[in-house]
Amino acid sequence: MKKLIVGNWKMNGEPECSSKPTKFDEIYPSHARDHLDIVLCPPSLLIPGMMELCRNANIQLGSQNCHYLDKGAYTGEISAGMLKNFNVKFVILGHSERRAMGETSEEVSLKAIKVSEEDLTPIVCVGENLEIRNAGQAHKFVSEQIEKSIATLNKDFIIAYEPIWAIGTGVTASIDDIRNMHIEIRKIIGPDIKILYGGSVNIKNAADILKVENVNGVLVGGASLDMVDFAFIAKAAG
Ligand code: 13P
Repeated sequence: MKKLIVGNWKMNGEPECSSKPTKFDEIYPSHARDHLDIVLCPPSLLIPGMMELCRNANIQLGSQNCHYLDKGAYTGEISAGMLKNFNVKFVILGHSERRAMGETSEEVSLKAIKVSEEDLTPIVCVGENLEIRNAGQAHKFVSEQIEKSIATLNKDFIIAYEPIWAIGTGVTASIDDIRNMHIEIRKIIGPDIKILYGGSVNIKNAADILKVENVNGVLVGGASLDMVDFAFIAKAAG
């Protein structure tokens, strides 16, 4: 299975960040990475300005969210169809930072269906908090989150396992924790769906994480803002 390296810039991105795809391609040229897919998910405002540069650098564009309807009176929202018009191919859904703002698995499921209908690929995020992990309930919690978030989805999708306690903390899940959780997720979604790991992935730990069975790529936050780091993480996929 081709590995997938995704950068989630979150709410970071000055106008000059638009040129980062070119910088990435200089460090890790497209002809040397046929075995990988690279995706950048900048703030939506930067997407139009990055379309051409991403195409030239053989990097795909992703969005960090979208609405589950096509259009209407939903102030501040963006639809999957609008994103498609700007060459977006992937949409991150149900990131824990959005779930913390009240997004439910039911909403994530509706969004995933809409994203699929537009022939884009949803990247559905799941992950437990520390309390749930310490209570020994992490596998059960993540399984339920997946079942609700992909409820009736029958097209291609991606799962990103991002333990909340590992996001932006510098604390990465142990290799054993990652392996065990990915085995559980694999049992639910079958052999053909990619499973990414996210949570404090950096240039030091990427190679070890990417070697773990059932880790088909990584979802990188902070380290994806620096193209030298992001390219090194991608190279670590082998
Ligand atoms: P960090 O890599 O900054 O921990 O963020 C992970 C993440 O939330 C990616 O979606």
